[in-house]
Formats: sequence, structure tokens, C-alpha cells
Amino acid sequence: MPLMRACARRFIARRAPIDYRIAQKEDMETLGRFLHGEDETAFTLFMEESFTCNPDVFRLLARVRGAIVASATISKHQLTADAPEDWWLSGLYVLPTWRGCGIGAGMTELALQQTCDLGQPALKLIVNKNNVPAVALYVKLGFYEIPPPFPKSASSAETPAIDPHALFMENRIR
Ligand SMILES: CC(C)(COP(=O)(O)OP(=O)(O)OC[C@H]1O[C@@H](n2cnc3c(N)ncnc32)[C@H](O)[C@@H]1OP(=O)(O)O)[C@@H](O)C(=O)NCCC(=O)NCCS
Repeated sequence: MPLMRACARRFIARRAPIDYRIAQKEDMETLGRFLHGEDETAFTLFMEESFTCNPDVFRLLARVRGAIVASATISKHQLTADAPEDWWLSGLYVLPTWRGCGIGAGMTELALQQTCDLGQPALKLIVNKNNVPAVALYVKLGFYEIPPPFPKSASSAETPAIDPHALFMENRIR
């Protein structure tokens, strides 16, 4: 039965073109509702942040017949004060009914393309190592495990406690 469902979704996905894009200002309200639903506080915060024009944050989305079915973010940040500044993929999410259609892969490829267009050498992410679909997706697209990017010289008081299930991964674009 799951196989039949997957086949049916792939069939639908082929017939309805999937539009992958970097979110523009006009997408933010729909994206905010997709991410936060009826949570007005979270939605308002999202809208405020979205219009601060931070050049180091890009929202990615996939649409089918105009409706958002997946989203993700890439952003530049440092995990700790001493860690290098890197580009990170986070929040990749595909609506359950649209999983298994290649949309997660399409979103990750868009994230890699955008990182490349920014002239950056690598994209990093953190995933729960028990998240089998996500880890398989990232490995398929060329991500590999890396040590947590904290300087070895930092004392334990300076390095954050790491979730034992956290898997750090990187894809070297150049
Ligand atoms: C992880 C997630 C983004 C995958 O999205 P998706 O659109 O279903 O994935 P795709 O259809 O693009 O699959 C691409 C590859 O991922 C792997 N994959 C996807 N689903 C899988 C599953 N259930 N079991 C094993 N591997 C899986 C496969 O390698 C697959 O390639 P294949 O179809 O050639 O076998 C989706 O399951 C999701 O939104 N999960 C909840 C949120 C989440 O965990 N996000 C990751 C945060 S780090």
C-alpha cells in the first residue's frame, strides 16, 4: 500500500509541475501562514523578520498549482563566538502528502545552487541521526558527516552541549 501511494504521488507530481523558488517579498505572507498557521504571535514575528532585508537569510519554497508544499531556509551564522561563519540549511519540511515525490531533493538542490550562486564554498546542516529519510536524502545529494565545527582549543565552558543525536553534515560545493 505505501508503494502504491508513492507511485500515485509520483504520477501526480509529474503531471503538476513543481515550482521551486527563493521566496520574494510577495511570498512571505503565504509562507508565514504555511509555517505558522493560526499562531498569530509566531506569524507576526516571521513577518517582521522577513521584512528586515537580512542579506544572509534566504527562504526557499516549492509550490504545486500555486500552493506551498515545502519550505526551507539557508542562512549565514556562527554556531559559537569562536566558530567559523558558515552557510547552514535548516527547517527543510515537505508536507506529508507530498513526500516521496522528489520535492525534498529538489529543495536541497535549490539550497545548494543558491549557496553556489553566493560564491560560498560549502553548505552545512545539522540533522537528527535517527531521521532516516532526511539522512538518506542528504547522503544521496553529496553531504557527508563532519565533526561539530567548534574549535578544539575552546574549553568545555565555551563549547555548547551537543545533542548526542545531532549529526553535522557538509556539502562542499567548490
Ligand atoms: C526528510 C524530507 C524532507 C524528505 O522529503 P521528500 O520530499 O519525501 O524526499 P524525496 O522524495 O526528495 O526523496 C529523496 C531521497 O531521500 C531519501 N528518502 C526520502 N524519504 C525516505 C524514506 N521514507 N526512507 C528512506 N529514504 C528516504 C531517498 O534516498 C530518496 O531518494 P529515492 O526516492 O531515489 O529513494 C521529508 O520526509 C520531511 O519533510 N520530513 C519531516 C521534516 C524533516 O525531518 N526535515 C529534515 C530536517 S533536517
